[in-house]
Amino acid sequence: MRQLFPRTSIVLILSIVLIQHVRSSSHDSVGTTVDLDLNLSTDPTSTQVSSPTTNQQYQEENNRREEEEEEKAHPQYTVLDNASWAITSRNVSSILNPNKQNIYNNFIRDCNLAYYENDESVQLTENTFCQDNDDVRIEMNTHQPSSVYNYTKQGYQKIRTPTKLYSLLRDFWDNHRDKSEPEWSSVTVYQNTWKYNTEMVYVDNERSGGSSKLSKAVYDTVQPLLEDWTGQYLEPVSLWGIRIYKNNSILVPHVDRMPLIVSAIIQVDQDVDEPWPLEVYGHDGKAANVTMEPGDMLLYESHSVIHGRPFPMKGRFYANCFVHFEIKASIDGPSTYDPTLDIPPYIIPHSYWHNEWQVENKEGWRAKTVREDAVPILIGRGDVAGIQKVYHDFPNKLHESDSNGWTALHESVRCGKLSILKTLLGFGMDKDLLTAAGISPLHFARYYHGETHDITQYLVSIGAKDIKHPVGANTNSEL
Ligand SMILES: *[C@@H]1O[C@H](CO)[C@@H](O)[C@H](O)[C@H]1NC(C)=O
Ligand SMILES: *[C@@H]1O[C@H](CO)[C@@H](O)[C@H](O)[C@H]1NC(C)=O
Ligand SMILES: *[C@@H]1O[C@H](CO)[C@@H](O)[C@H](O)[C@H]1NC(C)=O
Ligand SMILES: *[C@@H]1O[C@H](CO)[C@@H](O)[C@H](O)[C@H]1NC(C)=O
Ligand SMILES: *[C@@H]1O[C@H](CO)[C@@H](O)[C@H](O)[C@H]1NC(C)=O
Ligand SMILES: *[C@@H]1O[C@H](CO)[C@@H](O)[C@H](O)[C@H]1NC(C)=O
Repeated sequence: MRQLFPRTSIVLILSIVLIQHVRSSSHDSVGTTVDLDLNLSTDPTSTQVSSPTTNQQYQEENNRREEEEEEKAHPQYTVLDNASWAITSRNVSSILNPNKQNIYNNFIRDCNLAYYENDESVQLTENTFCQDNDDVRIEMNTHQPSSVYNYTKQGYQKIRTPTKLYSLLRDFWDNHRDKSEPEWSSVTVYQNTWKYNTEMVYVDNERSGGSSKLSKAVYDTVQPLLEDWTGQYLEPVSLWGIRIYKNNSILVPHVDRMPLIVSAIIQVDQDVDEPWPLEVYGHDGKAANVTMEPGDMLLYESHSVIHGRPFPMKGRFYANCFVHFEIKASIDGPSTYDPTLDIPPYIIPHSYWHNEWQVENKEGWRAKTVREDAVPILIGRGDVAGIQKVYHDFPNKLHESDSNGWTALHESVRCGKLSILKTLLGFGMDKDLLTAAGISPLHFARYYHGETHDITQYLVSIGAKDIKHPVGANTNSEL
């Protein structure tokens, strides 16, 4: 509904034009070379369903920032160097610091001492609670990034938090920071909490001055930004509150557990003696530091971008807020959801994590996902049962339209989902319902799919009218 020309088809059209141009040039003008500085076949978006396009605005911003990071980042290292911490192996290299292996080993030892409550009789050289748990983290770092689709070029991007949202969170923080509570009551291998526990000011908890209204405001602002950035429909998963790290805190490099797929970190406030960067391994595999100031927001693909702060924080506090979403469906690209496999659309079929996910989620993905606000997603997926459930539980959804006057009916035609269209007509929707610009479903069917498509044929067969109304002002705004 947001974009009438899916981005992929623009790329496709461009490719065709260019290919034809190359062909005719090489036929017609022997001896002249065709100088194209655009190699579309290297553009992953032109050939791969697996890499949906990024919004151009983000892309340019990304390129500029990428170059800046390039300069700053030295020495360069990748996940295979295990340089800043045990990233893909327990063996840590000495690239950054000859003592890194000891730092890691001591971390695991201290973790175990805390877990076994300083019981010296436990053989800490054997596999222990902390080492076993840390091996799971290392396994995720090793296998999860290559088992999921990438949605943006780099995998992360720093922007400014929209002013309204930042002042909302900032007010909340200023008024309620004294109501923080210790975050962890049990030992975790993700932070050195046994010694430097983080605290949390819960955003949706009245005890700490929060409300569900506040968390909704955060979700509602961040979701469209991340949807634009990734080109995917998202659904909120979690937002705990503002986490406060203390002097000497570390955050061990990790990827998030599913279904925390696309996320944002909003930097709320800090009092540090030196920058405390987030180290990320982008889709190019290289480590980079992202430094954040209050009001900055980092967008990142948290299930594939390894991220952490494996260098102790120096200062009094560092306060930020995490917002997590799950990907539901592509906004304008083809669906990567396969009903026969019934795994989430972000997992690459037959990858390492496909199997891992199925072991943990025996009931499949679809069972988890039908929600009343998921109409475009269900349409995109052609999920008739889901649509029936929505309209049974929320009949007024039939009358809902967006600012362009598009309803579920128009969306089903745009997506070419005949079964959904029939279901909606079965609920009594008008086959000739016009959008705000005065365009009927049959007109869209012909426009998007041509005369022979079964959705066009069906609309013709039930006597639908092809209307593109010359009403009012700008009737070309949609087509
Ligand atoms: C375009 O990219 C493809 C794939 O990387 C490569 O095989 C081909 O040689 C490139 N063509 C030109 C003209 O650079
Ligand atoms: C880091 O881990 C990877 C994966 O296990 C391994 O191939 C590599 O050799 C390790 N690097 C070092 C320095 O041990
Ligand atoms: C890790 O280091 C130990 C001892 O230095 C060595 O025996 C082992 O082979 C290394 N493992 C990997 C995966 O590099
Ligand atoms: C996606 O990015 C991850 C790192 O974040 C990388 O391991 C993986 O190979 C990338 N996938 C593709 C298809 O480029
Ligand atoms: C990130 O910063 C730390 C120190 O804060 C440094 O040791 C490390 O090399 C940096 N990482 C990169 C990728 O620049
Ligand atoms: C943080 O901890 C370090 C080492 O334990 C110490 O030297 C430093 O003074 C502490 N900083 C603050 C602000 O407490």
